[in-house]
Amino acid sequence: MFAFTDIRLQGVSYTFGTHTVLNHIDLHIQPGSIVALLGPSGCGKSTLLRLLAGLSEPAEGEIWFGDRLVAKPGWSLPPEARDIGMVFQDYALWPHMSVAQNVAFPLRMRNVPRGEREQRVMQALNMVGLAELAQRKPAGLSGGQQQRVALARAIVAEPGVLLFDEPLSNLDSALRESLCHEMARLLRQLGTTAVYVTHDRREAEWLADRIVHLASGKVESVRNIISSSGEIA
Ligand SMILES: Nc1ncnc2c1ncn2[C@@H]1O[C@H](COP(=O)(O)OP(=O)(O)OP(=O)(O)O)[C@@H](O)[C@H]1O
Ligand SMILES: [Mg+2]
Repeated sequence: MFAFTDIRLQGVSYTFGTHTVLNHIDLHIQPGSIVALLGPSGCGKSTLLRLLAGLSEPAEGEIWFGDRLVAKPGWSLPPEARDIGMVFQDYALWPHMSVAQNVAFPLRMRNVPRGEREQRVMQALNMVGLAELAQRKPAGLSGGQQQRVALARAIVAEPGVLLFDEPLSNLDSALRESLCHEMARLLRQLGTTAVYVTHDRREAEWLADRIVHLASGKVESVRNIISSSGEIA
């Protein structure tokens, strides 16, 4: 089962030398919601996502996943202890491993026994429509297929939080739109909390319940997206 985790950032700042990249960010992300982080290049989107992933530490403030403190100045829970899945722009698949081995990796790290591992890998590959390519190597896949493998790998261990950094920006525009809708459907089906970085307003609107605009390291605005049923998500 996916856990329903909320994310809370309290006064989070981040600096590179003398450059303040994130400036006292306060943000609450509801459990099971999909939040898009939108903003111009260099505004700090990836930096914020890396803080959520545990790949860097805040200079000020605290980050909480549910009732667990995961980061504060001078201390940060490592990524593998955070119960997260991540999808990046460049897929980051291991070229020497088959599709199935790539997707199985997070389960191996968690010492899931082989039989259960194989079953869960096939379940995740079915979810992204790639079951028939399980034995292929990444080099034999299209960009869209590779990104689906990365998505399957991110969800296979059923993490509480999914983090995406511009996962579709290497794809052409038609594929980008169809995969974005597919991901939106999958994320709603899973009900996991997701933070999705993009600079593409359309992607944010297709996918998210809420759009957080970052500008110059600050939250400029938070906008709820009205669903097709007319309800505010
Ligand atoms: N390793 C680094 N050293 C110094 N400054 C950095 C480093 N990485 C990022 N920055 C700076 O931090 C700021 C925020 O970068 P970040 O990568 O978070 O932006 P972004 O919003 O993800 O941009 P993009 O849309 O181009 O991916 C930028 O001004 C960038 O130049
Ligand atoms: Mg970025």
